[in-house]
Amino acid sequence: MAIRSCSYAFLFLVAFQSTIIKGDIVLPPPPQCSPVPASTLEKIEFVLNLIVFKAEFFLRSSVGLGINDISPGLVQGPVPIGATIAELDNGTRNIIKEFGLSSVGHIRAIVDATVLNPPITRPQLNFSAQLFSGLINQVVNATLTPPFNIYANNNFLFSAVDASSLLREYLTGIVPSIVGNDERRLVTGIAVDEAAISGALRAQLYARVNSTVSPYTFTVANLSILIAQQVNQIARCGVKDEGLIVPLQLGAENRTTTNVVPADVYSLAFSRFERELLRVLFGTGNATRTGGFFPSGFNGALFRRIQILGLS
Ligand SMILES: *[C@@H]1O[C@H](CO)[C@@H](O)[C@H](O)[C@H]1NC(C)=O
Ligand SMILES: *[C@@H]1O[C@H](CO)[C@@H](O)[C@H](O)[C@H]1NC(C)=O
Ligand SMILES: *[C@@H]1O[C@H](CO)[C@@H](O)[C@H](O)[C@H]1NC(C)=O
Ligand SMILES: *[C@@H]1O[C@H](CO)[C@@H](O)[C@H](O)[C@H]1NC(C)=O
Ligand SMILES: *[C@@H]1O[C@H](CO)[C@@H](O)[C@H](O)[C@H]1NC(C)=O
Ligand SMILES: *[C@@H]1O[C@H](CO)[C@@H](O)[C@H](O)[C@H]1NC(C)=O
Ligand SMILES: *[C@@H]1O[C@H](CO)[C@@H](O)[C@H](O)[C@H]1NC(C)=O
Repeated sequence: MAIRSCSYAFLFLVAFQSTIIKGDIVLPPPPQCSPVPASTLEKIEFVLNLIVFKAEFFLRSSVGLGINDISPGLVQGPVPIGATIAELDNGTRNIIKEFGLSSVGHIRAIVDATVLNPPITRPQLNFSAQLFSGLINQVVNATLTPPFNIYANNNFLFSAVDASSLLREYLTGIVPSIVGNDERRLVTGIAVDEAAISGALRAQLYARVNSTVSPYTFTVANLSILIAQQVNQIARCGVKDEGLIVPLQLGAENRTTTNVVPADVYSLAFSRFERELLRVLFGTGNATRTGGFFPSGFNGALFRRIQILGLS
């Protein structure tokens, strides 16, 4: 009993210390927004699903190649469904290709630094144009005619921004809890690179902010706001995705409405954890109900635990 109350006191102390910085009490997030307890290796295995997703999506849509065409034998498993080479201007195609290749590098870094050996099992991925057009119909709350085509007219940038931003948010979330110097260097290196990528992609979209999304009447700014709202709603953990143009009170220091790099009131990067990501990527708002881009879910122990525990 004495041992028990002593360890409770210790836990309380740890919790108390970790929630106070300079007198500001930081409330812990509600359970549906909290990280699911996991080891460093399990977190890296979880994030691999996202990195593989981004690498396949960017490479197949820009140059029609997959991960194994770049680095033979790095992945195995089902071939992604519905991949299509996108209509992109040359400059945009080149940077999408570059950022697809960087993700292949990140996968190689992970297999070199951890016990996760190649070939990495690729989750089933769905890149079908119909999936995107259905999601955009939900986003604009209307049935667009003609259906929105993610692969036409540089529209791919919208999905590129979102894929990169979810990955960046998860990496931001896990970096502080990564155990081991080598592992921390690995995850931080990926996170900072992905943050730069995410900003570069948003800047590409921002360059078109006032253009209408052809053939519709809404602008790139309008759609960026509506997509962010939909992501926030389905993730269920507050406002973490933001449009390219925001009300002043969401802009940096409340003094600007441009919002190329979304961030909190201190301009610190937003974090998202496992369940938020799964709700969004499955498109179901439920971390254990697979669908959307990952019709068979994620691979790895952390996702299996989420399923076993029935964490929606
Ligand atoms: C874009 O790249 C293609 C293929 O490399 C080339 O034929 C075309 O001239 C380029 N277009 C522009 C506008 O640079
Ligand atoms: C991929 O998405 C399309 C459009 O939503 C859907 O019709 C198709 O069944 C999906 N494929 C899988 C394997 O889930
Ligand atoms: C979506 O559109 C329907 C029909 O036009 C409308 O009744 C509903 O209020 C709209 N929902 C939102 C969230 O705007
Ligand atoms: C978009 O339009 C606004 C309002 O006209 C203007 O202030 C802004 O400079 C434009 N932005 C870009 C990137 O063209
Ligand atoms: C689109 O953006 C313009 C300019 O910011 C705004 O006036 C308009 O109300 C927006 N339209 C929709 C449908 O949100
Ligand atoms: C900006 O506005 C938000 C919300 O109104 C507030 O919490 C924040 O302290 C303000 N930031 C600055 C620098 O005034
Ligand atoms: C989430 O999905 C799982 C699997 O489909 C289901 O069993 C569970 O009831 C759902 N939870 C909620 C809150 O909808």
